[in-house]
Amino acid sequence: MNDFIDLAVEQFARDHTEWESALHVRLREETYRVMDRPQMQVDAIEGRFLKMLVRLTEARTILEIGMFTGYSALMMAEGLPDDGRLITCEVDPDAEAIARRYFSESPHGRKITIRIGPALETIKTLSGPLDLVFIDADKANYSNYYEASLPLVKPGGLIVADNVLWSGKVLDPKDADDHAIVAFDRMVQSDPRVENVCLTVRDGMMLARKRK
Ligand SMILES: C[S@@+](CC[C@H](N)C(=O)[O-])C[C@H]1O[C@@H](n2cnc3c(N)ncnc32)[C@H](O)[C@@H]1O
Repeated sequence: MNDFIDLAVEQFARDHTEWESALHVRLREETYRVMDRPQMQVDAIEGRFLKMLVRLTEARTILEIGMFTGYSALMMAEGLPDDGRLITCEVDPDAEAIARRYFSESPHGRKITIRIGPALETIKTLSGPLDLVFIDADKANYSNYYEASLPLVKPGGLIVADNVLWSGKVLDPKDADDHAIVAFDRMVQSDPRVENVCLTVRDGMMLARKRK
């Protein structure tokens, strides 16, 4: 679903994007069947875009903040080399149970390590260098996730954040999450440590490349 692009145009783009694996289709369908707020999952285009970013950056070490049922983690893992690794953070045991089942069915699942617990605590236990970080958890902590992970990112590495247009609410922020996203976007935009671009892919994706 895309709030910004005509649905037929969106469908055309999907039809001209590398297709989801059968496993991803099943994971999406189960997520929509059994989980509250399944739309939190990235869609097929954003998933393929994440995989493409992994390929383009030749990332070997990825941190994901906000796994949910594992769709984006599995997409990025597909783009990793055989010895690549992805650490993904989650707090919800129901989401974890689903993700673990699908990771075990995928040849890429062994690249993924799930860390259950508040992501800010998990990040404290990590050492870099990280090639790519994907921020997609609670919006209130977006700026904290960015500040905590940027020192671990290698020079030239990438931080990607999802939902940075927040269904357009960035134009008229009202509640705490709206304001947190706007604050995050402003912070990245004014951060001399990175080069950045705010994309209108799906609900908005911020790409911030750490300067060398
Ligand atoms: C938008 S969803 C992630 C979607 C996932 N990237 C995908 O595409 O399938 C956000 C997830 O972040 C998790 N989350 C929320 N607060 C968290 C925290 N403090 N630490 C780790 N995960 C958290 C939620 O339980 C939820 O599953």
